[in-house]
Amino acid sequence: MRMRKKPRGKERLSVLSALTVSTPANGGRVSFNFEKELPLRLEIGCGKGDFIRGLSRQETGYNYLAMERCADVAVIAMEKYAMDRGLGRPHPQGGWEAPDGTVYKDTPWDIPLDMRGNVRFMPMEAGGLTDYFEGGIFESIYANFSDPWPKKGHARRRLTHPDFLERYLYLLRPNGYFRFKTDNADLFAYSLEMLEQSPFKVTFVTHDLHSSERAAENIMTEYERNFTAKGFPIHMVEARKE
Ligand SMILES: C[S@@+](CC[C@H](N)C(=O)[O-])C[C@H]1O[C@@H](n2cnc3c(N)ncnc32)[C@H](O)[C@@H]1O
Repeated sequence: MRMRKKPRGKERLSVLSALTVSTPANGGRVSFNFEKELPLRLEIGCGKGDFIRGLSRQETGYNYLAMERCADVAVIAMEKYAMDRGLGRPHPQGGWEAPDGTVYKDTPWDIPLDMRGNVRFMPMEAGGLTDYFEGGIFESIYANFSDPWPKKGHARRRLTHPDFLERYLYLLRPNGYFRFKTDNADLFAYSLEMLEQSPFKVTFVTHDLHSSERAAENIMTEYERNFTAKGFPIHMVEARKE
């Protein structure tokens, strides 16, 4: 995703670190805590977070992790989520202004657990997924409008390359599912072929999501809104771990 560098990006991320998940300094598994123990869902490449905000409000019986490798983009997703949850707003002179008027600038705000909601943000690269988490931890994994990497030599970077599918299979619990949507017909054809050749069972396919039986429950992403406005149909596939 191309964007202008946001000023104070690192500071903004650390002030709301109660909403983030990070790996321990010496590597190893990530640690996170939620108010309630609920089935866990993962979105990879959450962008500015419209999808995870919408889904976490629509389907409240889950905890959510939103992974985004670009920290400057993850910050935007996290701040939009915090504002949406009534946790305050960015202060015009820097830092974060909590609802009680306190401005947190140099020290993180230890947001009470019951105010944090059911989403945490991970400014991380998905390539390390199986180092970060133990097997069978996720109920579902979502990837939306991920980068197509059209050159053959870059195929391994696609989030539906067999190496990534193998990681998802390890991380999903039995009957857990992977859901992928895109406007890109070539990437979709590739992804479908890779899923069909994998141990996943493809359970739903559409080449026009917005006219399909899943339209009513669909949560639009930033890219989805953009491509839909330009008239592109949206493809979606869901595949289950048997
Ligand atoms: C094209 S944008 C789509 C954003 C959002 N999902 C949407 O649909 O509007 C893809 C996003 O995925 C992130 N991304 C791509 N590959 C990734 C990876 N391997 N790990 C984590 N994030 C990744 C990019 O930084 C970018 O923000």
